[in-house]
Amino acid sequence: MLSEQTKAIIKSTVPVLEVHGTTITTTFYRNLFEAHPELLNIFNHANQAKGRQQAALANTVYAAALHIDHLEAILPAVVQIANKHVSLGIKAEHYPIVGEYLLKAIKEVLGDAATDDIINAWAEAYGVIADVFINVEKDMYKKMENQENGWAFFKKFVVAEKVKESENITSFYLKPADGSNVPVYEPGQYISVRLAIPGEKYLFNRQYSLSQAAKPDEFRISVKRDADNDPNGRVSIYLHDEINVGDAFEASAPAGSFVLDADKQSPVAFISGGVGITPMISMFETVATVTPERPTAFLHAARNKAMHAFDNDIQTYIASMPNAAYKVLYSDQPQGYITRDVLKEIVDITGDAYVCGPVPFMESIIQELRALGMTEEQIHFEFFGPAVTLQSV
Ligand SMILES: Cc1cc2nc3c(=O)[nH]c(=O)nc-3n(C[C@H](O)[C@H](O)[C@H](O)COP(=O)(O)OP(=O)(O)OC[C@H]3O[C@@H](n4cnc5c(N)ncnc54)[C@H](O)[C@@H]3O)c2cc1C
Ligand code: HEM
Repeated sequence: MLSEQTKAIIKSTVPVLEVHGTTITTTFYRNLFEAHPELLNIFNHANQAKGRQQAALANTVYAAALHIDHLEAILPAVVQIANKHVSLGIKAEHYPIVGEYLLKAIKEVLGDAATDDIINAWAEAYGVIADVFINVEKDMYKKMENQENGWAFFKKFVVAEKVKESENITSFYLKPADGSNVPVYEPGQYISVRLAIPGEKYLFNRQYSLSQAAKPDEFRISVKRDADNDPNGRVSIYLHDEINVGDAFEASAPAGSFVLDADKQSPVAFISGGVGITPMISMFETVATVTPERPTAFLHAARNKAMHAFDNDIQTYIASMPNAAYKVLYSDQPQGYITRDVLKEIVDITGDAYVCGPVPFMESIIQELRALGMTEEQIHFEFFGPAVTLQSV
């Protein structure tokens, strides 16, 4: 337990550190990777370049420090982050390394203002916060490993099938290279894939949502070719252009807390933008096969018809569901956006809504759902990158 004095120091220094938050974490990562370049095999370099990961780490450490008296208040955030950590194989022994470089960064940025008392208090607080993560993750690894067909860390998978779903989304069906089955996962969960790309010094890790209801012998991921930006997406392009049936790469066991409560019978709405459709397909297929009578709405926004994946699959399921509605909007058409009126028409606000898409898309949808009367507890969402604070939540 932390002493009252330590807690007082932590609370009084959080505002100062918040002001320097991103400078501290940027300094932290620079020094960390200089001293431990092997960690570049784990971290996502694009997220680093764009600064999203730095902000995510700083916000969490400060939020945790502020709640140091009652860390259970931030448990949902811890669980979401711990899921990401275990899908990447983060180990207990990594924590002291991160702690050391975080404290050094605080010292470097604050200079003389960071007295020994302050640094010692933060060292103690980091220890407490790290222990929470280490324990949650230990339990997760145990569960992953002990479940039927389970494993912890990475395992080799072979591409059994590669299917183009739209102009820019392609599915990969993955089977364990050792011929075993895969564990049952919750619809909405994701895996991390780990690739050695020829010519690259470090391994690449990326998360992909499982894009079909759980099957005993395979995973399916569906990947958008990220070629609209400069630079192009490294892993998605490699998967699209270089990975074919028979090729192998490593994947972690399913993780993630953005999941469907498949036992419920109450209304449910799936609202996706672009490739955010992938976890929705897994959830929707599960509803269609397990509780087909459940009142269900599927609302999808795509840029145009050519970029609209899974349309036929959804239509086939919808035809066999007595209480389901499906609506698609193309943003290259007039009135091609999901507005409050569209949501009002199709979403039953007494139920649950699952939202996934680009950050501005999620902000706008969640804002409108809240305006229609849905509560925070009813709205579930997933980021396809490090979590950020949504303006509308
Ligand atoms: C939980 C979760 C689930 C996901 N599920 C899916 C899914 O089902 N399907 C899917 O397609 N994706 C999914 N993603 C996203 C996926 O993990 C990858 O982020 C995505 O495929 C892009 O990876 P990439 O290597 O192709 O692109 P990256 O190389 O990571 O680049 C990503 C973006 O960053 C930009 N960028 C890269 N380097 C820089 C730089 N130096 N400066 C400025 N900008 C830069 C690029 O232009 C590009 O737009 C998911 C992510 C998460 C976290
Ligand atoms: C108490 C200490 C830690 C805190 C508070 C913390 C916090 C976070 C947060 C907030 C995220 C973003 C989660 C998201 O995707 O939404 C994250 C991701 C991540 N963390 Fe941690 N973390 C801690 C320790 C560690 C350690 C010890 C390692 C291992 C070296 C690590 C490696 C990673 C990696 C690789 C990611 C994913 C990064 C990416 O994809 O860009 N973290 N962490």
